[in-house]
Amino acid sequence: MEIRLWRELLVPYELAVKELVMKFHQLKKEHKEKDLYCPIEEVSGRVKSINSILEKMQRKQISWDELEEKVEDIAGIRIICQFYEDIEVVAELIRRRRDMRVLEEKDYITHMKASGYRSYHMIIAYNTETLEGCREIRAEIQIRTLAMNFWATIEHSLQYKYRGNMPKHLAERLSNAADSILQLDAEMSSVRNEVMDAQNSMLHQSNLVADILNNIENLYHYSNKREVAKIQDEFYRIYETKDLEQLERFHRELDIIAEGYRAQALSQDMGNGSSI
Ligand code: GTP
Ligand code: MG
Repeated sequence: MEIRLWRELLVPYELAVKELVMKFHQLKKEHKEKDLYCPIEEVSGRVKSINSILEKMQRKQISWDELEEKVEDIAGIRIICQFYEDIEVVAELIRRRRDMRVLEEKDYITHMKASGYRSYHMIIAYNTETLEGCREIRAEIQIRTLAMNFWATIEHSLQYKYRGNMPKHLAERLSNAADSILQLDAEMSSVRNEVMDAQNSMLHQSNLVADILNNIENLYHYSNKREVAKIQDEFYRIYETKDLEQLERFHRELDIIAEGYRAQALSQDMGNGSSI
């Protein structure tokens, strides 16, 4: 039998997982910077263990030649959302991307599995660049809510413990729990708009505060220290009022002051003949 170089086989998958996780984190960051509610709560990724790959090949009678085509989850990404509605938003974000091509979608949300498993899966084709050149590999993206993930995590541990021979009473309990998860997600959806509003304004405030403190720090280097101390005191006074409108006004005013100093600093620099 030919020698299998596992480490070599897994290199592009390891790279893909790292890149994909980073890209979804970046999406989160972009939402945050734009004060936008983010449909992604958590992102994680893993490369399937050799043991699990072998187990799957055995269980599904997959030959070595078919390995990379048929074991679609060697690279696996999991995206956790707060709400059921966020799942479709994330799926659409993925469909619109040019750096991943969706090969297949499996909707275990509308079509819950017999076990009670619910999740939205997308199989994608993704290009990786390694020393060996460009390789298109497959990856599985699982999108589910926090509640669905809670269920799947517990059920997965039990499945592992009983290795396919789950006692009937336990399977029933899990099935009941899956019904409760369905209800829980529906209840949570009914407050989604309020939660989105709250999170938007939390984000907005956190960006405002970061901006203001950044401006104060810049001013500290260019202008009168006593003036800056006064501005800082004023900021803390307004901050304590918890009044977002006042904070916004202060932010706008400070921006104008900072702009003035920036212009002044720039003209001084130019006057000094320093190059940019
Ligand atoms: P495997 O189930 O991995 O052999 O792959 P498959 O080709 O049958 O694909 P499927 O879409 O059924 O499952 C893909 C992945 O979804 C699995 O590897 C699990 O991570 C997850 N999954 C599917 N069914 C269940 C389930 O009943 N319980 C749990 N906890 N996870 C599941
Ligand atoms: Mg399966």
